[in-house]
Amino acid sequence: MKKIRKLGILTGGGDCPGLNAVIRAVVNTACRDYGVEVCGILDGYAGLIHKNVRPLALADVSGILPRGGTILGTSNRDNPFMYTEPGEGAGKEHRDVSALALKTIEYNEIDVLITVGGDGTQIIADRFFEKHGLPVIGVPKTIDNDLNGTDITFGFDTALNIATTAIDKLHSTAESHHRVMVIEVMGRYAGWIALESGLAGGGDVILIPELPYRIEKVCDKIRDRAANGKRFSLVVVAEGAKPEGGQLVVARQVKDATDPIRLGGIAAKVANQVEDMTGIESRYTILGHVQRGGSPSPYDRILASRFGYHAVVAAVEGKFGTMVGLRGTEIKTTPIKEAVAVPRRVEAGNDMVKVAKAVGTCFGA
Ligand code: F6P
Repeated sequence: MKKIRKLGILTGGGDCPGLNAVIRAVVNTACRDYGVEVCGILDGYAGLIHKNVRPLALADVSGILPRGGTILGTSNRDNPFMYTEPGEGAGKEHRDVSALALKTIEYNEIDVLITVGGDGTQIIADRFFEKHGLPVIGVPKTIDNDLNGTDITFGFDTALNIATTAIDKLHSTAESHHRVMVIEVMGRYAGWIALESGLAGGGDVILIPELPYRIEKVCDKIRDRAANGKRFSLVVVAEGAKPEGGQLVVARQVKDATDPIRLGGIAAKVANQVEDMTGIESRYTILGHVQRGGSPSPYDRILASRFGYHAVVAAVEGKFGTMVGLRGTEIKTTPIKEAVAVPRRVEAGNDMVKVAKAVGTCFGA
């Protein structure tokens, strides 16, 4: 096996807390344990296309563990296999510029590329591996927690804490004003943030994409509570939730992103319907990108550090085309292809759904 002398690392897709902890662990493990150099690719795959690469020494990663975001920058566009120049008009053809990206790898003498990102980033990494034989190791990141090959992605725990804190804050104002408070959380097409923050925050109603809801059932629950002296209710809704037979609420389309759909706005729809149908004053809050910002939780710092360390070990051991992930209490590798084959969603019969129902939560289904 060829001796590895230099690793490249990029962070792709939407940012999340813990990215810097991965970068720090990769640089420290590579330099201290293996005497391997590291360079950082700036702004995700855009850095490979535009040759934006910088060396990463120990001093560069000192002090970044508790910092949110990513010192390397990120982008959820710039797929080298389907690239459109910035400013090119609608209708312009996508181009395959993967050869340019490979030239940057070659020029910088990168032996293995560590790709830290969600499904979009890992699908591209796998394509480089399968089509061009580029040695890659994936590290699973996303607040949505929707990747297979790991029990949990880093970033999720911090987002869950932020969402739960927000629900707690809305609880007291809902109670004082005898209102229905609808809070919309992120998660794309997966309901993990809504389910877990709803369970942790005592949501009376939780609406998730995996269980299409009926607004009548949501209103019945709210009326029942009012009839039992609870004149306020908390509704936690995932941005990807939709009514039975209905549509997702789309906020915008982002050209050139791996998934161009940006969800958002379902909370307003639910709050208006609830107010109209129950006569109880309702308000909504869309938590948005707050869920992705700030310092990572201790859990995420530890998980991200473990992922970074094991990504270097996997690189040195030649486990190319795989992604590190948490399985039980251990970090293991899974072929990236398997990890991205289907998204990880809340399954029917999930234990947390059962528990939430048992403590009186309505899923509107
Ligand atoms: O995948 C992370 C995520 O925050 C999703 O929860 C959300 O739907 C999306 O990214 C928002 O993307 P953007 O940052 O492009 O608005």
